[in-house]
Amino acid sequence: MEEELKALRQQQLYREIKVIESPQRAHVRYRNRDMLMLASNSYLDLCGEERVKAYAARALAEYGTGSGGSRLTTGTNIYHIQLEEALARFKGREAAVVFNTGFAANSGVIPCLCRAGDVIYSDELNHASIIDGCRQSGAETVVYRHNDMEDLERKIQERPGRQGMIVSDGVFSMDGDIVDLPKLLELADAYGLLSMIDEAHATGVIGATGRGCEEYFHLEGRTDILMGTLSKAVGAEGGYVCGSRTLTEYLKNKARSYIFSTSLSPAAMAAAKRALELIEEEPWRVEKLQENICLFCHCLREHGVEAESETAIIPVRIGEEGMAVKVSERLMEQGFFIPAIRYPTVKRGEAMLRAALMATHTKEELSAAAAAIAEAIDYCRDC
Ligand SMILES: Cc1ncc(COP(=O)(O)O)c(C=O)c1O
Repeated sequence: MEEELKALRQQQLYREIKVIESPQRAHVRYRNRDMLMLASNSYLDLCGEERVKAYAARALAEYGTGSGGSRLTTGTNIYHIQLEEALARFKGREAAVVFNTGFAANSGVIPCLCRAGDVIYSDELNHASIIDGCRQSGAETVVYRHNDMEDLERKIQERPGRQGMIVSDGVFSMDGDIVDLPKLLELADAYGLLSMIDEAHATGVIGATGRGCEEYFHLEGRTDILMGTLSKAVGAEGGYVCGSRTLTEYLKNKARSYIFSTSLSPAAMAAAKRALELIEEEPWRVEKLQENICLFCHCLREHGVEAESETAIIPVRIGEEGMAVKVSERLMEQGFFIPAIRYPTVKRGEAMLRAALMATHTKEELSAAAAAIAEAIDYCRDC
């Protein structure tokens, strides 16, 4: 272990925990100073929202701290049920089932639906939890080039008549780009495959009202399995799967990560439910986030930094790992919290800053951040 840790340090790949000393909001305290948070997944800034906290506090007072059991034994209370109903409504589906994390949802669902003899077509940039789910399933996993539907179709045609599934991130977690859903669904229909989309970074972000990929492409109700997480724009914890009632009942009976794990606390469920209501009641959050995305990309480009995104994830490509760390450190010194993303999260030599925006960032903050990023890149290139 020591040898390997030493090697990681030498390759600039050693990771350290950063301790945030305040709620996860647009401004955080870090190392005892105020920082502009430009890396959080709490895209709609709901983690510290007063009404969300108050509702979670009520659940905490009523039901205590833990759920006390797995969902199928003693760990289901009214907040789990209400949240599942709210999620199904929000996503326009018959039913929803909540898992303990998005990771548990992906690694639970995929092996449940696919097994040895089946084939899973998976985008090369899919999240680690999808990759693990594919591995655990025992099915043949065929990785297609990133968002390349021609490559996907070629690979499907090489395996005629095989039963299986196409699975893709809806918004890719590092590059922030959006799946070609129309073509993916067309291929799934044409070749009789299931379609599964991970909406971890799409929910609350894309589509006119933040309902995700289907709303963005006006393809409501078309995907077989819509998976997502409550830990990002929703500002709470947990993962979910929405689909037909048959699907959710099947998962409740078969998915190992659902069955063999203590369920989430009532307070986490209540927080997610209230946050979902706020996303619907206060459309300004999604609208402001989408405005901020346009504005920030524009500001970066004005400073000569390439930036293109329609989602809250805006990658600033650096390349060499050491350089990415230096740029991030300089930004940290100046009060901008943007960590460097390195291998194995992205490929070697493709290190980046992954800026993540919130609905509550102001124009002035985003403009200052863009200028600081450009300055830090120039500074570190010269030093
Ligand atoms: C695309 C994607 N899917 C799934 C997950 C896992 O979700 P969770 O953090 O709720 O485990 C993440 C991130 O964490 C993600 O980026």
